[in-house]
Amino acid sequence: MSASPTISWVVATTLPQLTHQAVHIWSIPLAFDSQFDASCLSSDEKKRADTLIIPQKRQLFIAGRCCLRNLLSTYLDIAPKAIQLTYDLHGKPSLQSNQKRLYFNVSHSNNLMLVALTLNHSIGIDIELKRPLDDMNLIARDILSDNERRVFQTKTNKHDWFFRIWTLKESYLKAIGTGLSISPDQIEFNLHAEIPEIIKTPDKQYTLSNWTFVPFRPTSESLATVAIPTSPITVSYFKT
Ligand SMILES: CC(C)(COP(=O)(O)OP(=O)(O)OC[C@H]1O[C@@H](n2cnc3c(N)ncnc32)[C@H](O)[C@@H]1OP(=O)(O)O)[C@@H](O)C(=O)NCCC(=O)NCCS
Repeated sequence: MSASPTISWVVATTLPQLTHQAVHIWSIPLAFDSQFDASCLSSDEKKRADTLIIPQKRQLFIAGRCCLRNLLSTYLDIAPKAIQLTYDLHGKPSLQSNQKRLYFNVSHSNNLMLVALTLNHSIGIDIELKRPLDDMNLIARDILSDNERRVFQTKTNKHDWFFRIWTLKESYLKAIGTGLSISPDQIEFNLHAEIPEIIKTPDKQYTLSNWTFVPFRPTSESLATVAIPTSPITVSYFKT
């Protein structure tokens, strides 16, 4: 696999047009002392906010949901509060009434939120801070397939490689919506291909060959991947 490119975020002054086979990724910084209050949230989101006892976590959740609702509202052209989210069996949020066939997924790393949006296809995104992991070898044993584990042992830059494959797997699990109810070691990537290619999964919903994975570096300290069960796609990166 080639190295993940560092991308340049485009400051969007007007809403970019989301076309067929396009993916928009938004980078949204969330402030702890955010100006957002819970009034833009639905009643179940308010309940969830109330369960977060640590004030910073509560504020981050409220800020994240307000920003997500604001972003979705511009794509849908309806008020943020009017947006109705529904959650599938494993907790993936999506739009309840979705005439525009707009699909999205969210990932957080500390106070940075990434939102990936597309039309017509389920989508998954994962961002991970490249942090020191004392138990990296143990986690690798749990999340890598046998073949991947063998490749991992040969890597000199294990740390970078590990987070790269982590975001590949998690973006995929988020795209299919199962999260970790499927163990990541059940999924396998072709690690010799230039472009990431999934070659094994227990999922029966999507055809393996149609997947596109786009790894990138949102910041110098993090790695991310967006996954979508279609190709070809064009990805644009925006910041607020
Ligand atoms: C969904 C999951 C896969 C990702 O969680 P995470 O890495 O902690 O968090 P992220 O910030 O990337 O994603 C969380 C967001 O994904 C969305 N999400 C929740 N459940 C989801 C699911 N089943 N599928 C897709 N998206 C989901 C939500 O929008 C959530 O944000 P919200 O709680 O503010 O609404 C979770 O099941 C999990 O437990 N992750 C543990 C991470 C891990 O150990 N990974 C192993 C490496 S492969």
